[in-house]
Amino acid sequence: MSVTTSGPGRSVIVTGAGSGIGRAAALRFAQEGARIVIADVDSASAATVAEEVAQAGGTAVTVIGDLRDQAVVDRVAATAAEEFGGIDVLVNNAGIMDSMSAAADTGDDEWERVIGINLTAPFRLTRAVLPHMLAAGRGAIVFTASEASLRGSAAGAAYTASKHGIAGLTKSLAVMYRDKGIRSNAIAPGGTLTNIRVDADRGAHGPAALAPYMGNVGTPSQADEQAAAIAFLASEAASNINGAILPVDNGWSAV
Ligand SMILES: NC(=O)c1ccc[n+]([C@@H]2O[C@H](COP(=O)([O-])OP(=O)(O)OC[C@H]3O[C@@H](n4cnc5c(N)ncnc54)[C@H](O)[C@@H]3O)[C@@H](O)[C@H]2O)c1
Repeated sequence: MSVTTSGPGRSVIVTGAGSGIGRAAALRFAQEGARIVIADVDSASAATVAEEVAQAGGTAVTVIGDLRDQAVVDRVAATAAEEFGGIDVLVNNAGIMDSMSAAADTGDDEWERVIGINLTAPFRLTRAVLPHMLAAGRGAIVFTASEASLRGSAAGAAYTASKHGIAGLTKSLAVMYRDKGIRSNAIAPGGTLTNIRVDADRGAHGPAALAPYMGNVGTPSQADEQAAAIAFLASEAASNINGAILPVDNGWSAV
């Protein structure tokens, strides 16, 4: 689906743009007239956000599919390159929560689902996008990491490992591509009011066991507060910021 409005702006990919933080980020980029690939597994919500992007002054194309599928990843990168003539910004945002289980209670299914969506898919999409950014000699990559990138008490074993992995990938990219005009940064949200769900089957070692170590989690944020940080890291105002994991957590990580 393609919704076209005004003149050209930056070419931006936002994964998980059908809901929550990704939706809010897409609408922010739309306000600057960006051309946006909305990548999401949920076709109905993606279509709704595409309409909202058009109303906000942007241009949207949706790519529907599970980002664990390499063919979907390739389609996302190709769509941005072909429809918009390049890729200026990649927002690797789509993700799921785990069941907050400890390692001994985490089955292979949960581990592979969470690592697949939260870590492997962003890696593969980054790998697909990099040739376009390298050819242009510029690009900004922003990951949605998590408080669970910073501490062991914000989620279960699978989610915590996936988000620590995202922090490592963010920094590796910053080092390897700093001389190529490409920056890589992440936001680390604390609790944020979105549609994310804790996996229904909470393990015996779940939230109650984590509670004593969680610290004071502070006030939950709105998705737009996370989107503001994404927009900043993707902007020229952040031109010398590279490899940063920026907490957006009402000070939770400072406690
Ligand atoms: N909400 C929070 O409290 C919180 C805190 C820290 C980090 N995060 C991170 O923020 C990011 C966005 O989550 P959110 O809170 O906005 O949740 P959300 O559920 O509101 O939105 C996530 C979107 O990603 C899409 N998605 C999920 N799996 C997908 C897949 N395999 N392929 C394609 N699309 C897929 C969903 O359909 C949905 O539209 C995630 O990476 C999450 O880990 C959220």
